[in-house]
Amino acid sequence: MEIVPLSDAVGVEIKGVDLREPLDSNTLEQIEDAFNEHAIILLRDQDISLGQQKEFAQHFGELGSRNRPGKKPNELDEYGEHVMLVTNVREKGKPIGSLPDGEMTFHADTAYFEFPSKATMLYAMELTSWGGNTLFSNCYTAAEELPEDLKRRLDGKKAMQVYEYGTTLKMKEKYDRDNFPHYAHPVFRKHPESGRSALFVSELMTEEIVGLPKEESDEILEALFEHQKKPEFVYEHPWKVGDLVLWDNRCTIHARTDFPRDERRMLRRLTIQDTKPVVEGAVPYKQAAAE
Ligand code: SIN
Repeated sequence: MEIVPLSDAVGVEIKGVDLREPLDSNTLEQIEDAFNEHAIILLRDQDISLGQQKEFAQHFGELGSRNRPGKKPNELDEYGEHVMLVTNVREKGKPIGSLPDGEMTFHADTAYFEFPSKATMLYAMELTSWGGNTLFSNCYTAAEELPEDLKRRLDGKKAMQVYEYGTTLKMKEKYDRDNFPHYAHPVFRKHPESGRSALFVSELMTEEIVGLPKEESDEILEALFEHQKKPEFVYEHPWKVGDLVLWDNRCTIHARTDFPRDERRMLRRLTIQDTKPVVEGAVPYKQAAAE
C-alpha cells in the first residue's frame, strides 16, 4: 500500500488496495490513520457492489440514516435508508436521486443537525464529459490562516447552520427555520482525533454568527466564505469512474462545479454518523437521541 498526497491543500490517494478483497487489520489501521491525518482519502479503480461499499464504510463508524425528523423515510427504494444516489438521471421526468443538477456551493454535510455526519463517501459510477468536479476546502488551514484579530473576535462564538433540502446554490437570504433543521455549532470546532481546530462555517448553510449584530455577522461571514475558497486551501477532484472518496465533514467543506444537464452523472453516497458531540463533554449521540 502506498499513500501519496492529492494536493498541497488537503487529501491523499491510497494506492494498492482492492475493496473487493477482505482488508487485514494492519491495512485498515493505516487507512484510518490516513483519513484522520489527511481528511480526504481517494481510492481509484474500484469495481465494487453496494455491499462492498457499505462494508468498507462501516470500518469508519455506523452508517448515517437518510431518514429525517418529521420527514417520510427515504422512498428511493431498493437502496434503502443509508444510500443516496447523487444523480441527475431522471425517470418519467423525476430525478431518481438527489442533488441532481449543476454547481453547488461549499458546505459540510448535515451541519444543521446536532450530530452532523462524521464523514461522507462517494463512489463514482457514471460521469459527464466535463465538469462535475468536487472541490474540498481544508478547514484546519483556513482556521489557522485567519487574521489574529478575526480569530479573537470569533473565539467562543457559535454559528447558526440551516438548510432547506435540495438547495444547491443559495438564492435567498434566509432559509425557513420553522420547517427545516437548524443548529448552532461553534465557529471553531475541535476535531476529536487530531485535536486541531477547524473553521466550521460554509456558504450554503451558515446564516449568522450568533449574538453579533446582523450587519457585523454578514460582513464576517462573507469574508470567511471568500477566505475558504482561496486556492491554497482547496483541492479540486476531477472524478473518474471507479473513484471512491471518503471525506471528513468535521474539518473539510465541499462544493461542486457545473456539468451538462443532458449527460448522465451518478455517484453512490453513504455517510458515517458522528457519535461524538461537536463540543467536547456535551451529551453523546445515543443519549441525545433517547432524550
Ligand atoms: C455533495 O455535496 O454531496 C455532492 C457532491 C458531488 O456531487 O460531487
